[in-house]
Amino acid sequence: MSEIVINGGRRLEGELTVQGAKNSVLPVLAATILCQGECVVHNCPKISDVETSVKILARLGCKCLRDNNDVLVDSRDIAGNEIPEDLMREMRSSVVFLGAVIGRVGKAVISSPGGCELGPRPIDLHLSSLKKMGVEITEEHGFIYCNAPQGVKAAEITLGFPSVGATENIILAAATAEGTTVIHNAAREPEISDLADFLNSAGARICGCGSDTIYIKGVKRLRGTEHTIIPDRIVAATYMACTAVTGGKIKMDGIMPSHMIAMLSVFRESGCNIEASGKSLVITCEKGLIRVPTVRSLTYPGFPTDAGPIIISMLTLAKGTSVFVENIFENRFRYVDELKRLGAKITTEGRSAIIEGTERLLGASCKCTDLRGGAALVVAGLSAKGTTVINEIHHIERGYEDIVENLKKLNADIKLV
Ligand code: EPZ
Repeated sequence: MSEIVINGGRRLEGELTVQGAKNSVLPVLAATILCQGECVVHNCPKISDVETSVKILARLGCKCLRDNNDVLVDSRDIAGNEIPEDLMREMRSSVVFLGAVIGRVGKAVISSPGGCELGPRPIDLHLSSLKKMGVEITEEHGFIYCNAPQGVKAAEITLGFPSVGATENIILAAATAEGTTVIHNAAREPEISDLADFLNSAGARICGCGSDTIYIKGVKRLRGTEHTIIPDRIVAATYMACTAVTGGKIKMDGIMPSHMIAMLSVFRESGCNIEASGKSLVITCEKGLIRVPTVRSLTYPGFPTDAGPIIISMLTLAKGTSVFVENIFENRFRYVDELKRLGAKITTEGRSAIIEGTERLLGASCKCTDLRGGAALVVAGLSAKGTTVINEIHHIERGYEDIVENLKKLNADIKLV
């Protein structure tokens, strides 16, 4: 198993272009199933979750071609309707294929998503919404069988929680359903607007994305199209934290600052100097980090839960004590014990983490517990005195394209062993 080895303490300097958004490319690749033609998706990051999605498409009978950061999908001859269990296990967000397969083929089989490193990951909102759209759902032997013999019907749905995945599954099932579907209390994340942009470019009639009420007027057929994935705002925040903890200065290109307002505000409050203009941003942190009294994760446009581990890792080096409250997932602090091996002073109580700033972290061996927890260890290792060895890095490879190469180019002493 490969490891990431970091000799910390070097200031990050230089320029990098941020990859396409993992949480946008996954639902967009699922949406290609609905398009009866050839789709080309640009700016797809080279990460294992994209490889898994391409494998699922191929297993369903779609023709797929990967060309660097472009993925070409031709789903004209789609034959299957089962999301393979092994791939579902590999990537829980495969659940987003459900709406697309049902929308295109009228039925789907998916294995019940296990829990994951963030705690239980129920899909009750997905299933109850699909039921309202005329989908018959039975669960047995760990599999969920979905059937829409009369086709998917439009419905008016109010989500008990603005779930990103449930909102995406409803949009995918409704895009070619009969009638107009309305989603109240919809998730507002930019990745949902990106999915709607993709579908609308293929002939769908979706509006309201970015607000909490989304309208999807079903159309008979969607054609092939071309689309460029939006930048990954969480990956951007990760490189910003790497820069802040090393007192460096980097320029990031190809980002959308308007998607990062809540995060930029916390970075500035912690003592970072950020100049954002157009699709670029320069971040420095010359005077050291200072505490941020309280950061709370919320649904968009609030501070994103995925950036929680990143910002907590950064705040371990801030002067003073900060508090982070995780309001989205049950159990998103599993990486904290690994951070403590590097000397971080963090105590967690329920959904709160209390971070007491420390002068210095000290390199140690540690292991990734999940994707963003792994990224938090990289942030900590870059600042720590001495050598940090990070194991189980497949978690990081799920969502970060070329992170070792990129950090090396930014002057970090880091290697993949
Ligand atoms: C998406 O997950 C993202 N994944 C997550 O990113 C992100 O953390 C999350 O949205 C919140 O922004 C992808 O887009 C692939 P939710 P999703 O449905 O759709 C509960 C990362 O690090 N819930 O908004 O699964 C759920 O348990 C990943 O890139 C139900 O109770 O998130 C959680 O507590 C991690 N029932 C909360 O809602 C449901 O039917 C948020 O879940 C669905 C969700």
